[in-house]
Amino acid sequence: MKIAFVSSEAVPYAKTGGLADVAGSLPKALERLGCEVKMFIPKYYSINENEFNLHYNWEIGEIPIKISKHTRLAHVYQSTVSGSSIEIYFIDCPHYFHRDQLYTDGFDEDERFILFNRSVIETLQRLKWAPDVIHCNDWQCGLIPFYLKENYAWDMLFNKTSTLFTIHNIGYQGRFSKLAIKKADIRENLFYPNSSIEYHGDFSFMKTGIMYSDIINTVSKTYAKEILTPVFGAGMEDVLQQRKEDVFGILNGIDYSEWNPETDKFLLQHFSPKNLSGKQENKKFLLTQFGMNFNLDTPLIGIVSRMVSQKGFDLFEQASENLMKMDAQWIILGSGEEKYEEMFMNLHQKFPEKVAVYIGFNNELSHIVEAGIDMFLMPSLYEPCGLNQIYSLKYGSVPIVRRTGGLADTVRDWFESKQNGINSGNGFSFHNNSSEELCNTVGNAIKTFQDKKTWKKIQLNGMKEDFSWDNSAKKYIDLYNLAVKKKVTR
Ligand code: ADP
Ligand code: GLC
Repeated sequence: MKIAFVSSEAVPYAKTGGLADVAGSLPKALERLGCEVKMFIPKYYSINENEFNLHYNWEIGEIPIKISKHTRLAHVYQSTVSGSSIEIYFIDCPHYFHRDQLYTDGFDEDERFILFNRSVIETLQRLKWAPDVIHCNDWQCGLIPFYLKENYAWDMLFNKTSTLFTIHNIGYQGRFSKLAIKKADIRENLFYPNSSIEYHGDFSFMKTGIMYSDIINTVSKTYAKEILTPVFGAGMEDVLQQRKEDVFGILNGIDYSEWNPETDKFLLQHFSPKNLSGKQENKKFLLTQFGMNFNLDTPLIGIVSRMVSQKGFDLFEQASENLMKMDAQWIILGSGEEKYEEMFMNLHQKFPEKVAVYIGFNNELSHIVEAGIDMFLMPSLYEPCGLNQIYSLKYGSVPIVRRTGGLADTVRDWFESKQNGINSGNGFSFHNNSSEELCNTVGNAIKTFQDKKTWKKIQLNGMKEDFSWDNSAKKYIDLYNLAVKKKVTR
């Protein structure tokens, strides 16, 4: 099966969050299962040509893309994804992609991804390569399913090409003013109230992706159900309801060649379910790095996160006074909205011996934190899948989560989860978005931590679990087959 995998970020080239992890690992798993995969991402300024062995594709040459009055020129660079034979194509247009950040709130954010979407299709044409499925991820790829059925419908190359649209986060919808349809070269008569591209008077890339793709999925079973409801649908629930027969949930997998405490290249000492002693050394190292003391009975609780409201930091703020009274140390790594960065910095200033904070994006440190902490806190308001709780399970860092989306599908509460009468939990969880429940759950975890035998059991339950891509990648192939069938029968 031939798959074009399109994403606005992918490890190791460009990353802001979990989408990059998925795009960096799922294509490889698909190849292992026999698919022929080609990947497409924008060539951001931060991507180093030499480091990743990019070379200019002269055969493709210049791709003119008309956006409003301007004709922008896209070029294509190419490389091979390491550890695979996947060809990856980088869409180059310095005017749009040489910026400080991957995503901006600039006036031309729509243009950046219009160019990306059109260039992907134009590259496929020049390669004369017709994928069975174009796998589009999030709103940044939302126009591809549309273009295939409208602007490029004339091209017989794509006669048998179907589309899968994966929603990694319904909270980001690529919503632009009506003016954007002109930039995107979309016929004006396709834009009217409740049409497939119109959303409350605006043009939404996310809605367009949902309405025009053959199959839709999201990144956990629970989130697939949640987004059909007003509380989690972020206004898209009615749109999704229209396609609910075609909405599926597949849990993300983990790349254990990157995230495994037995081999992780960033760790001071490796450890495994058979020998956990190295974990203690990582904890001591981490605490020393941040100027805090080690105490055997005081748990170290970690957070690694984008600092946005999705991650439950308002709840954390409400709970913080009580949390700080508990006997625990904290390490927080993240960046994002200023108000949350400030909240954590203030806590550090108030409790320097208790709370360490690193504001910024630091991949190496994220591995060291995962290895050195005893518990990982993720009190998300909503969470499509979440990867850090799954990394935490592998690293014996017991997750404490709010039971929503992928968190509900991966973390089982120690007190509630039983198999054949024996506690089988791998973490701690609470249900409501309530600071009281958050405090009680963290309190219970800290109490349980004192019982070393029980604690080890919880750690091992998590460490032994398998969230590798093999299972989930097979499910993606099933969805690709479904998309192909759907395209034929529609
Ligand atoms: P989301 O995609 O919503 O941000 P996920 O849990 O799916 O949430 O994935 C987040 C990814 O980004 C993880 O790989 C995590 O380690 C990484 N990450 C988040 N913030 C940072 C940071 N400040 N430094 C390094 N890695 C980070
Ligand atoms: C999104 C979600 C996160 C998910 C990631 C990868 O950014 O917020 O929950 O794990 O995408 O699918």
